[in-house]
Amino acid sequence: MDWKALGSAILFPIQMVYFIIKASLSVILPTRLRDLSGEVVLITGGGRGIGRHLAKEFAKQGAKKVILWGRTEKCLKETSEEIALLGKECHYFVCDVGNREEVYKQAKVVREKVGDVTILVNNAAVVHGKRLIDSDDDALLKTQHINTLGQFWTAKAFLPRMLELQNGHVVCINSVLSLSSIPGAIDYCTSKASSFAFMESLMLGLLDCPGVSTTTVLPFHTNTEMFQGMRVRFPNLFPPLKPETVARRTVEAVRTNTAILYLPWTMHALVILKSFIPQQALEEIHRFSGSYTCMNTFKGRT
Ligand SMILES: NC(=O)c1ccc[n+]([C@@H]2O[C@H](COP(=O)([O-])OP(=O)(O)OC[C@H]3O[C@@H](n4cnc5c(N)ncnc54)[C@H](OP(=O)(O)O)[C@@H]3O)[C@@H](O)[C@H]2O)c1
Repeated sequence: MDWKALGSAILFPIQMVYFIIKASLSVILPTRLRDLSGEVVLITGGGRGIGRHLAKEFAKQGAKKVILWGRTEKCLKETSEEIALLGKECHYFVCDVGNREEVYKQAKVVREKVGDVTILVNNAAVVHGKRLIDSDDDALLKTQHINTLGQFWTAKAFLPRMLELQNGHVVCINSVLSLSSIPGAIDYCTSKASSFAFMESLMLGLLDCPGVSTTTVLPFHTNTEMFQGMRVRFPNLFPPLKPETVARRTVEAVRTNTAILYLPWTMHALVILKSFIPQQALEEIHRFSGSYTCMNTFKGRT
């Protein structure tokens, strides 16, 4: 008789019940927040949109240093000045995360000039916003290079040192579209679904690595320039999130070491519904909610 295996088999359902109760209680009971005062946070796409709010939120919640990456120096400089006004150290570097060599080069510069990054936030993304047959091949590739592969390069650049220090956190600002796609943004939805798989694989790969973990954030439509012009059928029923809310909840999720964050929490229903309702009913939900045609007037953001 393999007593060890038998012990694990008995323990397994008890552990499951324990984790479910613990997670349920954490919703109502106050949780201990991780202290950010020693942390160096790097945010890709930190110049504007959600990235800018994330930079300010990490600074407000006590991060030691904030580093911004992006392609537009003007936006990076503006955000950096806002962080300085909060009395925090901020550095910015022009870096296109879709360019592997540039990522590795700038990661080296960051290590030399600022120090070891302990929280990496993969936030940068673009959306071509066209149907497949109307899409230019290079634009389709560009979305995958920035939204998905960019995370491979940034993680490869910073994760080894996090593992050495036994202190690190990789955050991905993903999207609910990674779990429920819409037409008219096939490049974006594909990149976000790959990115979700990337983060899930990374998270499981880090299970035995003490001090290093991940957070994947799945926001609903958020009020930034990214999807400006998108026509929503029931704007009052499904109002866009505020970027500052996404930023605040993301920093809280890092501080409570939450693996997956749905924003708003009602997005859990989407996952549950998709797992059992018939395809025709799902199609009707898309038609009724307007997600089927919402990208018709959208111009893209590259
Ligand atoms: N807005 C929404 O409805 C929504 C909903 C769910 C999830 N999200 C996700 O939230 C994240 C932030 O989006 P957002 O709404 O803040 O969009 P945004 O306002 O368009 O900002 C995108 C950011 O990414 C940067 N960026 C784009 N390509 C880059 C590249 N190659 N290298 C480095 N930086 C790059 C942009 O700066 P530069 O152009 O200067 O490089 C900008 O700072 C994205 O991952 C997006 O998919 C957004």
